[in-house]
Amino acid sequence: MLAKFIAHRGLSAQAPENTRAALHAAADAGIKWVELDVQCLGDGTPVIWHDSHVRRCSDGQGLLSELTLDQAKALDVGAWFDPRFEGERMATLDEALDTLNERGLGLNLELKIGQQEDPVGLVERVLSTVREKVPEERLLLSSFSMDALDHIRKLDDTAPIGILFDEKIPRNWHWDAERLSPVSINVDWRYMSEERVREIREAGYHLLCFTVNQPEEFEPWWDFGITGVISDNPLSFPEFDSAR
Ligand code: G3P
Ligand code: MG
Repeated sequence: MLAKFIAHRGLSAQAPENTRAALHAAADAGIKWVELDVQCLGDGTPVIWHDSHVRRCSDGQGLLSELTLDQAKALDVGAWFDPRFEGERMATLDEALDTLNERGLGLNLELKIGQQEDPVGLVERVLSTVREKVPEERLLLSSFSMDALDHIRKLDDTAPIGILFDEKIPRNWHWDAERLSPVSINVDWRYMSEERVREIREAGYHLLCFTVNQPEEFEPWWDFGITGVISDNPLSFPEFDSAR
């Protein structure tokens, strides 16, 4: 069951994004679901990371796709955010799933297809691990890459899929939906139109909005039957306490 509030990259307002510390921060705050990004290192290990490079969120330099696991683990991925998080290490997918399960969190796992990433290869490296470790009611697999989502559906009839649309929702959004049978359509709330939102809800799909960090501006959209928001800080929504 999807949640009304999903912490974007973990509770990234309070801890370094996409780390185990951000999962613990989310769980400690009473958040039920998190969104995390997954992609592969150069040696093929799936890791929880957003950018194609490591400079923004670590003390290192260079492309993620050129690192081995040992090199990635040597990076400090916490101190850039706050000295309190010094010593935090990049999480492999496996490690993040262990923490997620330990804390009972739901997972919206975004498969990130960077320039170096092959959608089919990433799905093959990620899908079986996630399906083994995370129960279906606590899982959503999302991507902007229709190639990745098509490959998930080819390998797995029942995996819960979230179709991500960048910027405006295309007029023919339902073509992808009919083919992929998603649980949800995940959209950038800044480009939503009432017409598309109504169509999606009337067709029976859940609608998740990213990345909503302005609770007051977003307020009117709740009336359109939005399922939930993906936010850096779900705690900033007045509705958060009652939705828990
Ligand atoms: O899952 C929605 C959102 O995470 C997509 O954007 O760039 O934050 O991964 P980004
Ligand atoms: Mg993401």
